[in-house]
Amino acid sequence: MGLSPRSLRVGLIGAGAIGSWHARIVSERPDADLVAICDLDAVRAEALAARFGGDAYTDAAALFASAALDAVILASPESVHVEQALLAAAAGVPMLIEKPVAADLAGIAAIRAAAQAAGVAVMAGHVERFEIGSAQLKTAVDEGVCGRLVSIAARRQFVALEMPRFKGISTTLRILGVHDFDLITWIHPVQIAEVYAAAGRGRIFEETGLDDHVMTTIRFADGAVALVESAWTLPAPYGAFQTPDGWSPAGNNRLDVFGATGMVSNDMSLRGQQLIAFDEQSGFRAAGIRHQPLLHGRVVGALAEEVSAFLRMVAEKSAPIVGLDDAERAVALTSAAEASLASGLPVRPTG
Ligand SMILES: NC(=O)c1ccc[n+]([C@@H]2O[C@H](COP(=O)([O-])OP(=O)(O)OC[C@H]3O[C@@H](n4cnc5c(N)ncnc54)[C@H](O)[C@@H]3O)[C@@H](O)[C@H]2O)c1
Repeated sequence: MGLSPRSLRVGLIGAGAIGSWHARIVSERPDADLVAICDLDAVRAEALAARFGGDAYTDAAALFASAALDAVILASPESVHVEQALLAAAAGVPMLIEKPVAADLAGIAAIRAAAQAAGVAVMAGHVERFEIGSAQLKTAVDEGVCGRLVSIAARRQFVALEMPRFKGISTTLRILGVHDFDLITWIHPVQIAEVYAAAGRGRIFEETGLDDHVMTTIRFADGAVALVESAWTLPAPYGAFQTPDGWSPAGNNRLDVFGATGMVSNDMSLRGQQLIAFDEQSGFRAAGIRHQPLLHGRVVGALAEEVSAFLRMVAEKSAPIVGLDDAERAVALTSAAEASLASGLPVRPTG
């Protein structure tokens, strides 16, 4: 397929689990061309480039030096987001950065300073903002369905598949908790007085150093409270799907908002919105179809909507739907919860 004059030249850094979905989504769009894929692992970069198009790189600086990009997606681990965002800013390329946008608040500040100095837009890859259930829940709360907000309960629980890839480079709160910290501060944008987190540790902790199940409580300055559960405590065989294409491990997820006069509940649990399969070899399994479901051979759903919003932002030179202020709030809560886990004490978040 040739480049049409209006096609955006898109680059991707990080050709792993989520980067592969971004590559496919960009390749399926009529208004964009995937022209460059970078991964430290040359085999991964080349395999993805062979499947979805573009030149393969193993060095992000080389990619920006030669690819003439209109936009870039950073789907690398958060430990390298800052250095890669600074390269993108220096090259004048607007960027979509996977969650968590940075590992800490200093990283967010560095990205903000570089982007502002270069006049380059940054969008945060907070995929839950593009899930219809999450967005409709936010609308319902804003329209007053709950009345005065009293409490929020969020659960995000997954099977522990392919966890060793996060060993030593991420945490349960940065992988899972940050999604709900973003949703909670979006739904209830009120100052946070205190964060307290405690972890249940078992097999996952022993094998990877990641907490099996973290419970974070949040006290807002207006008296409301939230409980966020971030967990890998679903049995692995339950969601171990290799086929068919597009079936991913099921999550046991839920977001409930309670107020003085009403409640709103988004049930993404094992009992709803999931596919199940039962066969003689593997037994009973549950598959998730959120974020990047396939429909008639194309990726639809929240991740595709996120990429669409990003490319629209680039084409129209408009403000991001989810920006660095949102990323900062989510990372501030993540860091506060991590500090509480480390000290065993309640923490007042900064930022
Ligand atoms: N939005 C979501 O639902 C979602 C889902 C999964 C992961 N993520 C986020 O995306 C990021 C990547 O996660 P993943 O699961 O795809 O991890 P992954 O390990 O599968 O992929 C990361 C890739 O980045 C490459 N990489 C590492 N350092 C690099 C560097 N300096 N330059 C170029 N490439 C480099 C690795 O070789 C690897 O191929 C994480 O921040 C994670 O939290 C988001």
